[in-house]
Amino acid sequence: MNFLDDIFCKFGTDKSSKQHNFAGIYHAALDPMRFQARKVLEIGIFGTTPENAGASLKSWAEYFPNAHIYGVDLHEYSFINTGRITTIVADQGVIPGNLDRVVTTTGSDIDLIIDDGSHLMHHQQITLGYLFKYLKSGGYYIIEDLHTSYHDISNPTGTQYNTMLMLEVLRHSGVILSDYISEADKQYIQQQLASCEIHKVTPFASETAILRKR
Ligand SMILES: C[S@@+](CC[C@H](N)C(=O)[O-])C[C@H]1O[C@@H](n2cnc3c(N)ncnc32)[C@H](O)[C@@H]1O
Repeated sequence: MNFLDDIFCKFGTDKSSKQHNFAGIYHAALDPMRFQARKVLEIGIFGTTPENAGASLKSWAEYFPNAHIYGVDLHEYSFINTGRITTIVADQGVIPGNLDRVVTTTGSDIDLIIDDGSHLMHHQQITLGYLFKYLKSGGYYIIEDLHTSYHDISNPTGTQYNTMLMLEVLRHSGVILSDYISEADKQYIQQQLASCEIHKVTPFASETAILRKR
């Protein structure tokens, strides 16, 4: 247990030690920027009632006391909006009218982006390619539930590069292989990436990646 895990458990997100157990890894990376962070963006909200919806957004709002938290989902979640939480309806697999509208709301210099949305390979890659340039220098980009790379159901387009493979190659060689990221965005990520960590907390069940921008 740690401070962040206590918060995850309190709000009931599956990031907690009761399920994926990502809090230890995230707290180690994010604690130094806890009070400086001003903007956090998470793809994937989840839940049905004001009490159980947006568990991770509510967790980030408590963990980052000076940040505004933006949440994106296919579904409408404005019922959990507060002074520091803003939800946006958008499809992470589509840039025009969707991801571009998200950054119109958030602006640039985002401290932390978490992709916990559809977990589809092409969506994870479209989202990374488009949003990485809106991260602040020194900011983090997390791709959650990377173990979905091992499931055919998460690769409906049949891409040859699943997201785990893409990140393993990026980590070892500094090169991005993706059918869903433009050449300009690939160049940008390759030049601006400071580190790429892959954490297999429980192999094949709870895997997550943390990328850091220079
Ligand atoms: C795993 S849940 C998010 C859990 C939440 N982040 C938490 O930790 O409590 C995934 C969410 O992603 C949303 N989602 C699925 N496909 C999406 C897409 N293409 N664009 C945006 N959100 C999507 C789903 O509606 C669902 O609410």
